Amino acid sequence: MSTREGSILNEICLREADRRELSEVASVVAGWSLDGPSLEALRARAGQSESLLSIGLEVQRNLRENGFVLVKNVPCSEDAELAALLGLVAIPSALGNGDTLFFDISPSSPDSADVSGTSAEFPLHTDSTFLSVPHDVLGLACVRNSVSGGESVIVRAADVADRVRAIGGADAVAALGEQVYPFYLRDPLFGHGIQMAPILVADGDKWCVRYRGDILAKLTERFELGEIHLHALSVLHQVATKPESCAVQVRMDTDDLLLVDNRRALHARTALGPGERRLRRMKGYSLTNFSWRII
Ligand SMILES: [Fe+2]
Repeated sequence: MSTREGSILNEICLREADRRELSEVASVVAGWSLDGPSLEALRARAGQSESLLSIGLEVQRNLRENGFVLVKNVPCSEDAELAALLGLVAIPSALGNGDTLFFDISPSSPDSADVSGTSAEFPLHTDSTFLSVPHDVLGLACVRNSVSGGESVIVRAADVADRVRAIGGADAVAALGEQVYPFYLRDPLFGHGIQMAPILVADGDKWCVRYRGDILAKLTERFELGEIHLHALSVLHQVATKPESCAVQVRMDTDDLLLVDNRRALHARTALGPGERRLRRMKGYSLTNFSWRII
């Protein structure tokens, strides 16, 4: 397999031949709705393509090592092609994604329940913290971006752990690993209510994170946390507010697909500048690494 031209760290550019291959794959579900059987048909067809399988492995390697990858020249307006591409690394999930495989994010989204549907900055966070097991993979497909602003920011959980340790010491890291932090629970399997979970947990030499500052701020008022846990949370909040050199900033253009490991990295979005912006959000569960579903 030849090296993809123009590839730089954390960036994969699909060739025109790859796009044609994706169209071929998508044609097997032409006229079908994208439900379980058609997603499986897409996966089975994509699995016959050596070049697409190779892209899938490259994406998985980037997610594992860096927590994210930017895939360029992706047909971001095409449902079946996008589902086929995500299907190379994850099982696409409508649950927890507004009950749709492709959730539209734009400043004018009338039904957006949170900051993602506004023009405001969205600080570093994990997606799907309301599920018992948050999604492993988050995909943001850019149909068009605003003229300025709206950059994505990614910080690896491992770097968060290092900075928390540097500021708050090993005790702060240990406190964040305890199952005492309140998150909403909105999970068809586990019910509705409040769940207690750790925020930052070591998994061998990797780190796993579940963090949503605004929700924790709201819920910790109702649930009495000990001093050490509150202090650890304030250190983490400090790190998430100013991640400095550990943050990677990515500016997406039309037909860019940003894939983020939602358990191994936090993501954020800077405030949007002028101009219409439309992203299509996808979520999924990893095809591998089930063992690290700790928190
Ligand atoms: Fe998000």
